[in-house]
Amino acid sequence: MVNTTIEGYLGKRADCKKSRLPAKLDLIQSGTGLFLGLFMWAHMLFVATILLGKDAFNTVVHIMELRFLSSSPYMTYATTVVACGVLIIFFVHAALGMRKMPINWRQWRLYRGHATRMNHGDTSLWWIQACTGFIMFFLGSAHLIIIATSDGLSADMSSQRVFTHLMWLFYLVLLFSVELHGGIGLYRLCMKWGWFDGANPKETRAKLKKAKWVISVFFLVLGLLSLAAFLKIGYYNFNNIDGNSWQTSAYTMEAK
Ligand code: HEM
Repeated sequence: MVNTTIEGYLGKRADCKKSRLPAKLDLIQSGTGLFLGLFMWAHMLFVATILLGKDAFNTVVHIMELRFLSSSPYMTYATTVVACGVLIIFFVHAALGMRKMPINWRQWRLYRGHATRMNHGDTSLWWIQACTGFIMFFLGSAHLIIIATSDGLSADMSSQRVFTHLMWLFYLVLLFSVELHGGIGLYRLCMKWGWFDGANPKETRAKLKKAKWVISVFFLVLGLLSLAAFLKIGYYNFNNIDGNSWQTSAYTMEAK
């Protein structure tokens, strides 16, 4: 307690040791980032099942919501629980990420000076990550809240969501932000903790950078194709089915 009070005044403790808290926070930020990055890969593959048709997408939802255990409509709360869990991890990750942002003119000038002097590609990547993180703070939270409060998931409901009120624009911005942020984040994690350093870290860096772009482009194309598939179904439903049956959830469709 005395140590932290002294550290508050002088910037270091009475015993001249540095607090380990910043390192621990860094570790939590890396851990939550790794979880979210891997979650997003799985999530993008799950969403892309729409490319195989509505039945394929609905089957995945059926499995995810454990509806094979019970046909109760309350099983849709499985999605709510998972979405809320991801939202909490998302908040923790974002809160820790905010520590690194330049928050006043002086810090911004220091960052710009450093970036210009270094002229290193990874410093520019950091800036892209900071900007996309800021965008995701709002759009990612909104998406997770929409999913958590949704009355179950189904191909038709998702298509309606993507199609109406220009929501596809929201998803388009979210998609680019997520893929850039996630790809750069996972690359930086590998560099920071030296996971694949091997005998020649310089060569590894070049390979990881290439892998990062390949993976980001792959998920971007997959996401764009999935968005197009949702839009196609949404457009068809809009023109051919009345509003009420459009909102039918996978659960009630199965029950019919
Ligand atoms: C449990 C958590 C999540 C679930 C169940 C979920 C589910 C879905 C579903 C069903 C869609 C299709 C559109 C819709 O129905 O709204 C979608 C799209 C999307 N989600 Fe999520 N999501 C989750 C978390 C996240 C997170 C954390 C992010 C990133 C911050 C994210 C980013 C996206 C993006 C970018 C799309 C558009 C994908 C595309 O281009 O096809 N999602 N999500």
